[in-house]
Amino acid sequence: MGNPICHDSSPTNESQNACLDDVVKQVLSRRKFLLKSGGSAAAVAFLSSGVARAAQALSPTNLIGFQAIPIATDDAIHIAPGYTARPFVPWGTPMFSSGPGSQWRGDGSESAQDQARQVGDNHDGIHFFPLENSSSEGLLVMNHEYSTTVGDGDDQYLTLFGKSPTVAKTVEQVDKAINAWGCSVLHVRKSGGNWSLVKDSKYNRRMTSGSPMVVTGPAAGHDLLKTKADPTGTRVLGTINNCGNGYTPWGTYLTCEENWNNNFGTRLSQGDERTPAQKRYGLAKGATGYGWEAFHDRFDYKKEPNESNRFGWIVEIDPYNPESAPKKRTALGRFKHENAAYAISKDKRVVIYMGDDERFDYIYKFVSAGKYREGDRANNMDLLDSGTLYVAQFSAKTAQGEGMGDGQWIELSMSNPKLVAAGFKDLADVLVHARLAADAVGATKMDRPEWITVHPTTQEVYATLTNNSRRKSGQEDAVNPRADNVYGQIVRWREAGGDAAALRFDWDLFVLAGNPALNAKGDLKAGSPNVTADNMFNSPDGLGFDKAGRLWIQTDGNYSNAKAYAGMGNNQMLCADPKTKEIRRFLVGPKECEITGLTFTPDQKTLFINVQHPGERGNSHWPDGGDAIPRSATVVITKDDGGVIGS
Ligand code: FEO
Ligand code: CA
Ligand code: CA
Repeated sequence: MGNPICHDSSPTNESQNACLDDVVKQVLSRRKFLLKSGGSAAAVAFLSSGVARAAQALSPTNLIGFQAIPIATDDAIHIAPGYTARPFVPWGTPMFSSGPGSQWRGDGSESAQDQARQVGDNHDGIHFFPLENSSSEGLLVMNHEYSTTVGDGDDQYLTLFGKSPTVAKTVEQVDKAINAWGCSVLHVRKSGGNWSLVKDSKYNRRMTSGSPMVVTGPAAGHDLLKTKADPTGTRVLGTINNCGNGYTPWGTYLTCEENWNNNFGTRLSQGDERTPAQKRYGLAKGATGYGWEAFHDRFDYKKEPNESNRFGWIVEIDPYNPESAPKKRTALGRFKHENAAYAISKDKRVVIYMGDDERFDYIYKFVSAGKYREGDRANNMDLLDSGTLYVAQFSAKTAQGEGMGDGQWIELSMSNPKLVAAGFKDLADVLVHARLAADAVGATKMDRPEWITVHPTTQEVYATLTNNSRRKSGQEDAVNPRADNVYGQIVRWREAGGDAAALRFDWDLFVLAGNPALNAKGDLKAGSPNVTADNMFNSPDGLGFDKAGRLWIQTDGNYSNAKAYAGMGNNQMLCADPKTKEIRRFLVGPKECEITGLTFTPDQKTLFINVQHPGERGNSHWPDGGDAIPRSATVVITKDDGGVIGS
C-alpha cells in the first residue's frame, strides 16, 4: 500500500542470521501455551517489564491531557478538540520574492530552475532550530524524500509536472525531480499567532539531489568512493531520498538517505551484472522508474559503479551557516537510513541510534571517540567523524516473560575477527558495506526498523518496527513475534547501567499494533493490551518524545480502512504515556497520505509535523481543495489556549 518505495522495498537480506533461535522457540511455544490458556499471562508480561517500572518514577500520572479522536477517512485533517492545525510551506512554496521560482503557479509547470528555489516535494523529517532560543523565530529544516510515481514501472511522476502522470523524458524533467528532492532550510517566524516563511532570508536554502556536499570520516577518499567526476572520493553532488532525520545538541541537522538505491539503474544491458553488494543494497536490475540514469551517467552503475557508494549515509547540515557544505558522515555506516536519534553516554561520548528500513534489516548505533562538550560548538562539530559502529542482536535468553529479553551491541570494525575472516579489507570497506558486515556477525533481522527516539530523562530508547509481510511462519522471534506482520510494533530498550555507550541492553515490546475488533483477545494479531478498538492503528513509523516525555507515534500504513485494517482509517498521529502505555489518537491526516516528522518549538507550544504524499493514488486535493493538485506540506499545530502541546 501507499508509497511504493517505503512499503514495497523487497528484502535483500539472504544471510543466515537468526530470525529464530532455539531459546526464542522455547519462549514462543510457552507464549502459545499461555495464550491458549486465556491470554492474561501475556498481558501481565507486557505490563510488568523492568523497563516499565524504571520509567514510573519520572512520568507524571496525567501525562496526556487531550481528548482522543475517532478515525477519519475523508480528505481533511482532524485533530483533538482544543487544537488547531494549519497547512504550512507546501511543495512549491516560493522561498524568494523575485527571480526563478518566485511564483507557485498551481499547475506544476515550474521549471527545474524554479524548483531549486522553492520548497521541495514529499516532506518528511523536520526540525526547528531556534534563532536566539526563540520559540517564535527559527530555522525549520526538513527533508523532501522523493516525488510520488505511479504506473507499471513506477515511471510516471504523479504530480511533479502537473495533473497528468508524466514520464520524465528530458533532462530538464529529470533535473526538476532532482531539484524537488533533498532538504530545505526555511527561516520562519510567528507573528499575531501565525507562522510565516521569511522570504529572501539569508538562511533560506535548498540542498537538492544535485547540490555539492563533502564526504568525511573513515571512508572519505577511499577507492570505493572515487568516480570519474571525483577522483578524490570526497566531493559528491546531492543527497537522495531523505527520509527521517535527527539533530544534534550542537545545533546541526542530520538527514538520512533511505531508498537511494531506487535512483541507480542501468540502461546498458538487459542481463543482471550487479555485484553481490549492489544486490544486497537493492539496486535495480535494469532501468529505474525515476529515469535519472538515462540523462546523468553517474546514476548508471555500469557507467559509474562507485557513485552509489556515495549515497546511503547520514548527512550533517549546519542550518545556521548557509555557506557550509553538508557533510556525509561515513563513520555512521552506509545503509538505508531511516532516522537518527542521539544520546550522551556517561562519559560524554555521542551515541547515535539508527535503523535500516528494509524487511529483515538491522538496528545500529554509533559511539563517538571524542567527547561532547556542552556549549563548545567547535569541539562538537566533527564528533561524528570518528568512533565505533555497532549492530544490535536481540535475544530472549534471560526473558522474564513474553515480549522482553536482552541483547548486545556487536562491533563492526576490523577489531572484530569475524569481519577479518569474512574478507573485509579495512574499516572503509566495513562502513561502505555495513549491511554485509552486519550479516557476517549475526545481527537480528528486524521487521523494518523505522524511527528511533530517546526518552528525554530515562534515556530509554524506542524504535518503530513498521511491519513485515514477508516474515514467514517459523521465522518469528521474541522481538519480531508475528509471521505476516501487517501491523507492526514498537520495541524499547534500556542500556546496561543506564549508559548509552554500553554493549548490553534489556528490551521489551512497548506495543504490538493490531486489530482487536477482528481478532480474539490473546491472538497476537489483536495487538498488545494497550491497543483497543478506539485507538488501533497500523504501521508505526515516525516517533519522537516531547520534553515532558510524551511519546508521539505517526503512521505510514494501509489506509484502506478495510479487511485487516478495518477501523483504522487514514494515517494518523497518536500519543503514548511510557509509564501506563496508554495510547490516544491525536490527529488524522487527509486521504492517501502518511504523517511523518515532528518537532517542537523550545516552549513546546508549537508542533510542526509533515503530511507526505496526500493523494498518492490520485484521490486528494489537500491542502488547497477544489480540484487542486495535492501537495505535501508541513502542518503547524497549536493549542487554542496557548498551552503546551499534549498537556
Ligand atoms: Fe521513508 Fe522508512 O520511511
Ligand atoms: Ca515508512
Ligand atoms: Ca518513514
